[in-house]
Amino acid sequence: MEAPIVVTAEAHANIALVKYWGKQSSEHNIPATPSLSLTLQALTSRTRITLDPSSQGDIFSLNGNPTIDPRVNACLERMRAVSNKPIPFVNITSENNFPTAAGLASSASGFAALVTALNELGASNLSAKKLSIHARMASGSAARSIYGGFVSLAGSLTDSKQETWHATQILNEHAWPMQVVVAICTEREKAISSSEGMQLTRNTSPYYDSWVASTRTDFDDCLQAVRDRDFERVATISEHSCLKMHGLMLSTQPGLIYWNPATIACIHAIRSMRASGVPVFFTIDAGPQLKAICLPEAADAVDKLLSGIKGVQRTLRTGLGPAARIVDSKAPASS
Ligand code: PMV
Repeated sequence: MEAPIVVTAEAHANIALVKYWGKQSSEHNIPATPSLSLTLQALTSRTRITLDPSSQGDIFSLNGNPTIDPRVNACLERMRAVSNKPIPFVNITSENNFPTAAGLASSASGFAALVTALNELGASNLSAKKLSIHARMASGSAARSIYGGFVSLAGSLTDSKQETWHATQILNEHAWPMQVVVAICTEREKAISSSEGMQLTRNTSPYYDSWVASTRTDFDDCLQAVRDRDFERVATISEHSCLKMHGLMLSTQPGLIYWNPATIACIHAIRSMRASGVPVFFTIDAGPQLKAICLPEAADAVDKLLSGIKGVQRTLRTGLGPAARIVDSKAPASS
C-alpha cells in the first residue's frame, strides 16, 4: 500500500484541573509536576499535511498566516527519525476554531494534531503513549490532548531523560459528563509564553519548591476524587491548584499577571454560585479566560451568569471531547 500524501488530523484543547507549571528539564521538556486535565470537545485544532515534492523546505501556516515556529521544526525532525516511510518536505496548515495563544491551550491541540498526522504520513505506527511523549516534547500540555475525557500526565520524579513522562486516560469522555463554559475575557494573544514564564518562575519564585511538592499531593488526591466521581472534592482541589499556580506566577520576578478585571469578576461570580449550592467551579490558565466546570444541569445558569459579566466578550460552551484522530487520509492516485 502507498503511503498517504495528504493527511488531516483533529485534536481538542484540554484544561488542567491539577496544573503543570515548571519543568524538571527543558531539554526533554519534562514537567516538574504531574497534572490532570479534561479534553474539550468544542475547542478543535485541524491540521492538514501535504507532501510537497516541489518544495524547497517545510512550510507551516497557522490560522492562514505563514508562521515560523522552531517547536514545529523540532517536532518534525523527531517524527521523521521514527517514521517507517520517508517524510520529505511538507506543507502544514493548522487552524484553530478558538483564540490562539490566549490561555486556551491552542498549542496542546495543535501539537497533538500534528504528531497524529505525522504518525499516519510516516506509517510510524506509534502507540498513543508514544505519541503523547512526542507531543509532550513540543508542548507539555499537548501530551494530554492525545486522549479524550479525563487525562493525567505523570512520570518518574527522577527521570532525567523522557520516557516515563506520558499521558494516560483516566476516564473516557462519556464516563462522567461535565460541561465547561469558557468566559473569553480578551481575544488578544498573551505577552509571555508558558515556557518563558515557567523558566522565570523556577529561577526566581521563593515558593517554587513548595508548589512542586504540594502539586504531587493534589494530583494523587484529585485522581482518587475523579475515580470516585466526587464533584465537590474535584472542585475544591482544582480551584486550590489554580489559585496556587497564579500565586506562584505573581511571586515570579517580574510578576506574571495573566488576569484582567473581567477574570476577577468571573472568579467572584462563580465562587458565590458554588457557595449557593450549584455544582460549578473555576480554573484559569496562562491567560485571562476563565473556565467554569460544572455538572450538565448547571450549564445554562453558569453560561447566563458569565455572559452577563462586564468585560466578558463572549462565552464558549463544551462537553468533554475525544482523542486526537485522523479525519482524512488520501493516497496518491495510482498511475
Ligand atoms: O504545556 P504548555 O506550555 O502549554 O503549558 C501549560 C501550562 C498551563 O496551561 C498553565 C497549565 C496546564 O497544566 O495546562
